[in-house]
Amino acid sequence: MEINHDTVVVVNFGAQYAQLIARRIREARVFSVIVPYFATAEEILSHNPSALILSGGPASVFEKNAPQLNPDILKLGIPVFGICYGFQAIAQSVGGSVKQNEMAEYGRTAVAITDTADPLFSDQPGHQEVWMSHRDAVASLPAPFLPSAKSPAAAIAAFYNESDRIYGVQWHPEVVHTPYGQQTLKTFLYDIAGCAPTWMPDEIIDIQVERIRNTVKDRHVLCALSGGVDSSVAAALVHRAIGDQLTCVFVDNGLLRKGERSQVVSDFAATNNIRLHVEDAEAEFLGDLAGVTEPETKRKIIGNAFIRAFERASRKVAAEQGLSGFEYLVQGTLYPDVVESGNAAGTSVIKSHHNVGGLPDDMEFELIEPLRDLFKDEVREVGAALGLDKKIVWRHPFPGPGLAVRIIGEVTKERLEILAETDKIVTEELEKAGAAASLWQCPVILLADVRSVGVQGDARTYGMPAVIRPVISQDAMTADWARLDYDLLAKISSRITNEVEHITRVALDITSKPPASIEWE
Ligand code: XMP
Repeated sequence: MEINHDTVVVVNFGAQYAQLIARRIREARVFSVIVPYFATAEEILSHNPSALILSGGPASVFEKNAPQLNPDILKLGIPVFGICYGFQAIAQSVGGSVKQNEMAEYGRTAVAITDTADPLFSDQPGHQEVWMSHRDAVASLPAPFLPSAKSPAAAIAAFYNESDRIYGVQWHPEVVHTPYGQQTLKTFLYDIAGCAPTWMPDEIIDIQVERIRNTVKDRHVLCALSGGVDSSVAAALVHRAIGDQLTCVFVDNGLLRKGERSQVVSDFAATNNIRLHVEDAEAEFLGDLAGVTEPETKRKIIGNAFIRAFERASRKVAAEQGLSGFEYLVQGTLYPDVVESGNAAGTSVIKSHHNVGGLPDDMEFELIEPLRDLFKDEVREVGAALGLDKKIVWRHPFPGPGLAVRIIGEVTKERLEILAETDKIVTEELEKAGAAASLWQCPVILLADVRSVGVQGDARTYGMPAVIRPVISQDAMTADWARLDYDLLAKISSRITNEVEHITRVALDITSKPPASIEWE
């Protein structure tokens, strides 16, 4: 991407670690990109980096196939900061030694700064808590490297080398459990590497608008709109570039939350003057799902039904507009998808010819992916800058297979209505209490095959339990259950049992991820 800012290259020794570091750098308003650990020096230099950060990773440097640090990248004259595995990889690469410890250190750990001349820790307390996750530890360092911190299990928990501008810590400054972590990163970025905090995600709007116009010219573009943040922001951005040359398709699969369709039709498309085709496919989806209880089978059926409905819709729209077809398809691909698909080096908006998600061969599109350099929180900033409704920008993520994977058991119209009604109550109460914004998601799950005993009046009744699963998370890779206020939970519970027929019991899911996933299926 053509941006006139400092760029930091994060060398990836473990995807989750590298992504979190890259996000933290951007939160410090410095642009960051992730490259694989085997990237060559030329590849790294092609990003014109102001600094390099070597990420942590799950491997031990002693494993046979442990990812190796390319020693050339320490000789580029660019400031380097190694974290956890990256810290050990530097030590090993420059001729220091790493030893396997008897004692591992996981979680909150007290460290002491032993050399206050290390500029990384200027203005920081001499004793502080950090988040550790290691068994191996750096045992010795060659000059001019100097140790600057220690922990109970690591005699050398940080080092610095001012003449070569190479720094490192054994712990994870990127996680929230390290209170001085972000300050340490900022000190490295601003004071050591001289980066300026000037990156703003909404800058990509002008860059992408120009690029999309130049690429698409007078041709026509299709976008599958899900109602979620990513596809909505991607569509709004492409619409800003080419207006009515863009048509969005929304497949109503009958597995939606209450009011979702009208939100897409009125709040999004009509408000922003975006051409929209709604494809009614509820009967088709429910027909295909009849009798199916196995979660992965549900997903497969829904995926296939979506392709059929989308293909049909695109032919209808093309015919209505007198076109033989569409050449471009907008996708709300985000940077984590790009990194995970191993394609982090390519930064173009248009990917080469690509057959998307199992669409038939005669439906080949060039992809337009205007958000592929951004993280989710940055997409929200772009959405806000494009003037999208707050409700759309701050929507909780929702799985593509919709409520079908939140009904444990067969999916029927009646069960979908019960779940949608319950979900609406939960959403309303969370919003009213101002709690929704602090949650990543709050799925509601219907245990449709469980007969739970209730007492209503004098009679014993049987109904289905609903489970609410409020979670906090940064990226859905890990999550913790949210400690919602008891009065709010009581209100949600009593409204559900009072207002939704067939639900006689409400349960709260108090499991973190891992070990449990966020969704139940
Ligand atoms: P899990 O359940 O794996 O969910 O912890 C992580 C995130 O992904 C969403 N999710 C899905 N999204 N299709 C999707 O588009 C799916 O099949 C699917 N399953 C889970 C989930 O809501 C959470 O945000």
